Amino acid sequence: TFNVAISTGGHAQPDTLYGLMYEDINHVCYAQLASSSRAHIFISQSGDGGLYAELIQNRAFQQVTPGTSAALNSWAALNAASRISVVRSNVPVSAALPNALSLAVNAGTTDSVGFTNTGFWGFPVTANTRYQGSFYYRFPNPPSNQVSGNFNVDLRSTGGTVFTSTSVPFTSSAGWKKVTFTFTPSATQASANNLFAVSVTGATVSGLTVEFTLVSLFPPTFNNRPNGMRIDISQALADLKPTFFRFPGGNNLEGQTPARRWIWNNTIGDLLDRPGRQGDWSYVNTDGLGLFDYLQWIEDMGMEPIMGVWAGYTLNTQSVPENQLGPYVQEVLDQIHFAISDSSTNAQGRRRAALGHPAPFNVRYVEIGNEDWISAGGLASYNNYRWRVFASAISTTFPQLRLISTSGTSGNVPSVSGPRPIYWDLHIYENPNWFRNSAYNFDILPRNDLRFFQGEYAVTNANNGTRLSYPTVEGAITEAAYMTGFDRNSDIVFAAAYAPLLNHISSTQWTPNLISYSPNTLFKSTSYYVQQMFGVYKGDFYLTSTTNTASAPVQWSVTRNTSAGQVYLKVINTSTSAHTVVFTLPSSITTINAAGTGRILTGAAATMNTPSSPNAVVPRSFTFTAGRTITYSAVAWSASVLVVGAR
Ligand code: AHR
Repeated sequence: TFNVAISTGGHAQPDTLYGLMYEDINHVCYAQLASSSRAHIFISQSGDGGLYAELIQNRAFQQVTPGTSAALNSWAALNAASRISVVRSNVPVSAALPNALSLAVNAGTTDSVGFTNTGFWGFPVTANTRYQGSFYYRFPNPPSNQVSGNFNVDLRSTGGTVFTSTSVPFTSSAGWKKVTFTFTPSATQASANNLFAVSVTGATVSGLTVEFTLVSLFPPTFNNRPNGMRIDISQALADLKPTFFRFPGGNNLEGQTPARRWIWNNTIGDLLDRPGRQGDWSYVNTDGLGLFDYLQWIEDMGMEPIMGVWAGYTLNTQSVPENQLGPYVQEVLDQIHFAISDSSTNAQGRRRAALGHPAPFNVRYVEIGNEDWISAGGLASYNNYRWRVFASAISTTFPQLRLISTSGTSGNVPSVSGPRPIYWDLHIYENPNWFRNSAYNFDILPRNDLRFFQGEYAVTNANNGTRLSYPTVEGAITEAAYMTGFDRNSDIVFAAAYAPLLNHISSTQWTPNLISYSPNTLFKSTSYYVQQMFGVYKGDFYLTSTTNTASAPVQWSVTRNTSAGQVYLKVINTSTSAHTVVFTLPSSITTINAAGTGRILTGAAATMNTPSSPNAVVPRSFTFTAGRTITYSAVAWSASVLVVGAR
C-alpha cells in the first residue's frame, strides 16, 4: 500500500503542457542516415493522404521525372484505347507545376478512354457527402475544327461499378482550362478499395492528345476550410485536448540538402504556385498542407503553434558555413513576419492578410532546428555559430518570442555561443523499462531558469528489442508513469508531445503511431488513451504529494482544476499485480463530494489496438466513494484518473 499525503502547495500547470508533434513522414522503406547517431527506420502516413484531406495521390506530378513509370505513381489508363504518360508540358500550367499527365487517344477509337487514380490506398465513398473536385486540361495539338464534349468523373469500385459521377464540358482549347465539379454518393460503400476516374467518349477525342494536371478531389473538411484537413483525424486530435502543435518537423524540416529543406515560401498561396518538395522520407510532399494552412487549422483547433524554423543543417550532415547563412536567416525572419507581423506595416503580414487572415497568428514559441545536439558532443556547428546566428537575429527582431533550442541531453547544457538557450527540446524513443525507470528524470534536475519541452517521446520497442507495430498496453502504461513526471515537474517542463502522431495502415513504415487510419476508418491506440487522460485531466495546478521512487511499480500525480472545483488523482500501475494507494486530501479542502467518477485504461501487457481489433483496449468509466481519504486499488497494468469534486 502506498500512502499519499496531498499538500495544498504546488505549482501552476503550464497552459502548453500537453500537445502534438507533427510532420509529414511517409512512404519510405528504410532511411539509414549518414550520421550513425541519427539512423532511423521510418515510414508512416501523416500529411498527404492523411491529415490533409486531398484524396488524389500524385495530383500534380510534382518533383517527378517525366517519362518514367515512377512518375505515373497511382495513375493508370482506363483501357488500351489510350496511353498515358507524364510529360513536361510545352505550356506549363504554372512555373511551379511544369508536368502534366498526357492522354494520347488511339485514332479510330470509339471506346470510352481516360485514366484512374488509386488515391491514397483507396477512396472513401460516403453517402450524402459532397465531394468537390477540379482539374486543369488542355489540348497540346488541337484539331483545326474545334471539338467539344464532356469529361465524365466518378468514384468507382476497382471492378468498374460507378458509385457517383458527374460530367463537365470541354472544348479543344490549346490553353489550360480549369473545370470544377461536385458529386454526392447516395450510398456508403463499406470498402475503400475504390478508384477515381476521368473518362471521355473515344469518338470525341479519337487521335488527339489531352494534358491534365492538378487533379484534385476533397471531401468536406474540418471547419469547412478550402484545401483543409480530414474531419475524423482532426476530431480525434481535438479530443486529446491538445494545447500546442509543433510543426513542420522533425526531420522533415531539415532536408537532405540545403536545397531540399522545407521552404515556407513555397508552401503558401494558390496550389498552382506550390512546387512541392522531395521530403525527408523519400517521397514527394505536395505542400498542399502549407504554412498558412497549418496556422489556420491550428487556430481552428484551439491550439497554439510551436513553429519550427530551418537552422542551416541538413540530414546529409552538411552545415551551411556561417558566412553564407545570411539569406537563410532572412528566410526565417520572413517566415515569422508572415505568421505574426502587422499586416498594415509589414510585407509578409500583408501576404497573410491577402490569404484571409489579417490578424497575426498567436505564435509565442519558435524552435530553431531539430535534434541539433542529439548526438554525443552535439553538432558542433549549432553550438559554435548556428544557434547564435539564428537566435540573435530572431530575438533582435522579435524580442517577445521564446526560442527553443534542440537537444538530446536533459539538464546537461552544453556550452553554446550566443543568447543563452532557456527552452530545450528533448527527444526519447525507448522501451518500457526505460520509461518506467525514468519517471523521475525531471525531478532530479536543478531548479534554475531552464525550461524543458519533451518534444518527442514514445515506447517504440518491447524490452526484448522487438519493434512495436502499434502501441501496447505495457508501452502506454509505462509512458503514463513517465508522464506523471511531466505533471510533477511542470514548473520546469512546459510542454510534451508523443511522436509520431499518425499512420495510414496501408503504408506504414515508422511504428508505432498514436492514431491509425485508412481512407474510411480511424482507430486510436493504447497510447492515445493515455495522452487523452493527461490532456483532458491536466488541471491548472499541480498539488505536491508524497513521491514514490524511480522504477517503483506505482506512480501518481495530483492536479486541481480550480474553476471546476475538482481534484484529479492519476494512478499508474506498471506492474503485474494490483497495488493499493491511499490518498489523503489536505485540510484546506473543506468540501469533498462523496461520489467520485473515474476512468481506467487497462489490459494484458502485450495487447494492442490493431486494424483487425481496433478496440481491443479502450478506457472505461467507474464510480467510487470519495472522502478526505480515498483508497484505490489499481489493477495490474493500469492508468486511472479519479475525479473528486473538492473545494
Ligand atoms: O518522430 C520521428 C522522427 O524522430 C523525427 O522526425 C525526428 O525528430 C526524430 O528523430
